[in-house]
Amino acid sequence: MIGATPGSAGVQTYGRGLEGLVAGETAISAIDGVRGHLLVRGHPLEQLVQRSFEEVSHLVLFGALPDADRLRRWSAELERFSEPPAPALAALQRVPGTAHPLALYRTMLTVAACIAPSVEQESDPAWSRPARILSWSASLAAAAIRHLAGQAPVPAASAPPGHAQRFLFQTLGRLPSPEEARAFEVSLVVQVEHGLHAAALAALTVISTGADLGSAVLAGMGALSGIRHGGANQLAFEMLAHLPDVDSARRFAREALARHQRIPGFGHRVYKCPDPRVALLEPHAVALLRARGLEQRHEVYRALRDEVERALGPRGIFANVDSITGLVYHPLGLPPSAFPIPFCLAIQTGWMAHCLEYLPHGAMIEPGAVYVGPVN
Ligand code: ACO
Repeated sequence: MIGATPGSAGVQTYGRGLEGLVAGETAISAIDGVRGHLLVRGHPLEQLVQRSFEEVSHLVLFGALPDADRLRRWSAELERFSEPPAPALAALQRVPGTAHPLALYRTMLTVAACIAPSVEQESDPAWSRPARILSWSASLAAAAIRHLAGQAPVPAASAPPGHAQRFLFQTLGRLPSPEEARAFEVSLVVQVEHGLHAAALAALTVISTGADLGSAVLAGMGALSGIRHGGANQLAFEMLAHLPDVDSARRFAREALARHQRIPGFGHRVYKCPDPRVALLEPHAVALLRARGLEQRHEVYRALRDEVERALGPRGIFANVDSITGLVYHPLGLPPSAFPIPFCLAIQTGWMAHCLEYLPHGAMIEPGAVYVGPVN
């Protein structure tokens, strides 16, 4: 669309949803939305799924995979912040129990950010701020999820080592099996970074004003919660859960497509080809579903996906990561309303990396607008 701003010399242009607009340079990730590739700090995502969340979060935040000593210290730093401030946990009791778990967890993180004695002090080592946010977030999110079932928080002190395992232990109140822990960790790794998507840009806009990293993450959380973005994995699973068998999945898809209904878990702003994260998660979803005797759910998912992709694939609409994460989180025992939370726990790593990359030289973000109103 093209328009002219009265009083300005040139013609200003913009794309719908800022499409095609480049917001800056980054060395963090590159997305090929035509061939379906995601490079994180130069590493293909396919290689990173073999690694732990600690290794990959270090890579995303600090630019390189850690050697053994740095990995030990980064893991210890994450563990150091696994007990969030008590008033943040207590805030759970003050928020209506009907609130969405993402809102509960966001509220708790807001309280934690107020209490942190040295949140953004210059003396903080560069990695303490992201470590604190990642680890507090995981413990607070676990407490928010347990709160849905009226269960008390599980202290991190009794949890096994490892960020993914710790979150699962604090959420489920039991030790996850190695398959569960691995599947969950892979889900974190594939969702750890994804360029300047809407939530990352929200975080970047906030940090560009000189605000603190916690505020930037909170802004990202707000943007992620929408049903077109990170909220879609809950809707995608709820849709699937209503489909008892393959035939009803095919019928549902055909009817929804005939009504031009937007089907959650399909389509992407960047990928106009299969989302590579789906294929990386699918074997883990299948393994967890099979272990719980729920493999039929995967068949239903495949039937729905085949039907939708046959119709919409030629238009560049394929299953996205939100279509499949529920098939990992449900057999783990998470309620569907909690599904956006692990996505948030993972991708806030990328938001913080973009903020830290932007900070040294970035200007305050303030795009213009094409004026289309009257001139009186
Ligand atoms: N189901 C059916 N049709 C769709 C879908 C879908 N999931 N997504 C897009 N379309 C159709 C639209 O109806 C529209 O059709 P039209 O041209 O006949 O009007 C056309 O495709 C283009 O739609 P846009 O919204 O312009 O496509 P865009 O690429 O901008 O949208 C988005 C991307 C917002 C993700 C969209 O595909 C969507 O709403 N998907 C469902 C929600 C979802 O799964 N979100 C998660 C995305 S992944 C993530 O953020 C982590």
